[in-house]
Amino acid sequence: MNPETLKGRSLLSWKDYSSEEIRYFLDLSMKVKAEKVCGERPQRFVGRTVALLFEKRSTRTRCAFETAFGEEGGHPVFLSTQDIQLGAKESVEDTARVLGRMFDGIEFRGFKQSTVETLAAYSGVPVYNGLTDEFHPTQALADLMTLEEAFGDSKGRKLCFVGDGRNNVARSLMVICSKMGVNFSVVTPKSLFPDAKLREMCAPFAAASGAKIEITDDLDAVKGADALYTDVWVSMGEEALRAERVKMLEPYRVDQKLMDRTGRADSIFLHCLPAVKGEEVSADVIDGPRSRAWDQAENRKHTIKAIMLATMR
Ligand code: CP
Ligand code: NVA
Repeated sequence: MNPETLKGRSLLSWKDYSSEEIRYFLDLSMKVKAEKVCGERPQRFVGRTVALLFEKRSTRTRCAFETAFGEEGGHPVFLSTQDIQLGAKESVEDTARVLGRMFDGIEFRGFKQSTVETLAAYSGVPVYNGLTDEFHPTQALADLMTLEEAFGDSKGRKLCFVGDGRNNVARSLMVICSKMGVNFSVVTPKSLFPDAKLREMCAPFAAASGAKIEITDDLDAVKGADALYTDVWVSMGEEALRAERVKMLEPYRVDQKLMDRTGRADSIFLHCLPAVKGEEVSADVIDGPRSRAWDQAENRKHTIKAIMLATMR
């Protein structure tokens, strides 16, 4: 794989990247993390600017972009929708054209996947999806990195997502696992099964990589899992569905009993955070010895740095 072919590219979903390219991002993420551990801060973003657009709240994604870019001499500019015209007084196309003239890259977090796609189509600079209702690709890279740190590899491992099977995090994991040969199970009530379009999109990726993709409402599917992963039961923008969702997902809480059902003493727990302790995960699991959620949060920064390094011109 020639890294030059990554220059100028946007990250909207992992579907647009080959397994070799994703491998490159993972290796680069490990490398920038190792530099950080040694106290090295090469100034690779000096004189560069990135626009960080947020329609929804964020702790990790915003801080990962700001610190990863800033500590290497770049200038990140945070723009919430309270600050700019995006989609209100100005079309997304026009905003994209203007930002593309001023910035070396654009990050977008918000509701519609079509907004991040339009920014990429009209700005002429790399656009990074920092979460939409459909996908959260920068998160999925950090998740795979964390799995590889725990086990030394990811291919052939079994990652089990337990919770809201149709949310952005589960969907992104399905894409990246299909591409990278990671066996991926979504354990969720039938009414929250990922949609057919996504399953059909991932099927050929999984066939090529050898990944086994399973979608089930049966909690026995956690047996043999290397990692159990969960996310909030109510994603940003879905607050009105809270009561219904909690009732539906109550049996799917990741607690010590469910961790034990993996039958593995070395299985780990993952969570993208923020977490609602006592809802999708019990406090003893997320704060316990098998939780890698905090490494995962730190890895957001290293993976986001690697993505910007690889794609910015
Ligand atoms: N995991 C994640 O994206 O966290 P934030 O919402 O805090 O950015
Ligand atoms: N599914 C969650 C992820 C938060 C990082 C949400 O969209 O709110």
